[in-house]
Amino acid sequence: MLGAVNPPVFENSLFTFETAEELGAAVKDEDERYVYWRGTNPTVDLAQRKLAALERGERAKCFGSGMGAISATISSLVSAGDHVLVLGAVYGPTTQFLRYLEKFGVSHTHVDDLAAGDSAIRPSTRILYFESPSYMAYQIVDITEVTAWARERGLLTVMDNTWSTPLFQKPLTMGGGPRRALAVEVRRRAQRPRGRRRRGAVAAGQAAGVAGVPAVRGRDVAA
Ligand SMILES: Cc1ncc(COP(=O)(O)O)c(C=O)c1O
Repeated sequence: MLGAVNPPVFENSLFTFETAEELGAAVKDEDERYVYWRGTNPTVDLAQRKLAALERGERAKCFGSGMGAISATISSLVSAGDHVLVLGAVYGPTTQFLRYLEKFGVSHTHVDDLAAGDSAIRPSTRILYFESPSYMAYQIVDITEVTAWARERGLLTVMDNTWSTPLFQKPLTMGGGPRRALAVEVRRRAQRPRGRRRRGAVAAGQAAGVAGVPAVRGRDVAA
């Protein structure tokens, strides 16, 4: 942004265009100009690019909360008739959201390990969803093993990285193999360790704010 060392914060919601044709092209995504900040604006865009780099992902999208990110991510990856496999303990509202999806024809099964996953998997299973460490129980999942297991079965891996943050683990880089079947990482940026509110670096998991940032690798997912 004009070479500014500290990028300016854009607070406008709308952008102007010289002609209706230019606006039309931007609205149709025919060129990459900013239109309205619910989509993105230069400040959010910069944050998204920096967060994608931190995650080692191709793209990232900022949301106003973790559940905003999680619900948007899961909904964007499933259709009526699809099935979601949930491994290990996950955040309660995530399970509530998956239950809510049942009324749209999306089912889910919770399993405790991959052996149970092999019994529960269906032809309609689209996603393997898990957390590591998990919410409050701090269950640790072998991300490399689980991602490889999912990839071998043609599933997308979606992982909630709230409790570690990408400073300490980068799930999008774990599991290897072809990128097609990899990985959406959902992360809530702003944890409150042991319930205490503390000011500090947001990326290190402090309570300076709340946001959710899905980061992705794999072109079919990023689209
Ligand atoms: C593991 C995990 N995922 C998601 C969330 C939801 O984040 P938010 O409260 O920003 O919706 C939380 C909140 O504590 C969490 O611990």
